[in-house]
Amino acid sequence: MQNTQPSTFFWNQLVIPFDPGESIAAALLRSGVFRLGAAVGGLQGRYFCGIGNCQACLVCVDGGSPVEACLTPAQPGMRLTPALQAGSPPWGTS
Ligand code: FES
Repeated sequence: MQNTQPSTFFWNQLVIPFDPGESIAAALLRSGVFRLGAAVGGLQGRYFCGIGNCQACLVCVDGGSPVEACLTPAQPGMRLTPALQAGSPPWGTS
C-alpha cells in the first residue's frame, strides 16, 4: 500500500508539508510563511529572487550553516530556523 501522507519538515515549531522535489522556500510560501527572520543588511528575510542571488532567503537546516531556501530541496524531518536573528552579525563575529 502506498503512503499518501505528505512529507513534512519543521519551520521553528510549525509543521510544513511539501511535495517531492519542492524547494524549502516554495513549501514555506504555500504554507503562508513569508518572513524568514532577519537578512543581511538589516532587511527582512524572505523569498525574493528565487535563483540564489540575493541571499534574502537564508535559513539554517538542523542547526548547520545557512543555505538558500529557494535552491534547497525540502527533505522529510528537517528542522529549519532563521539564519540570522535581528541585530546579530552574519555568521558570528570571528
Ligand atoms: S530568494 Fe534570493 S537567494 Fe533565495
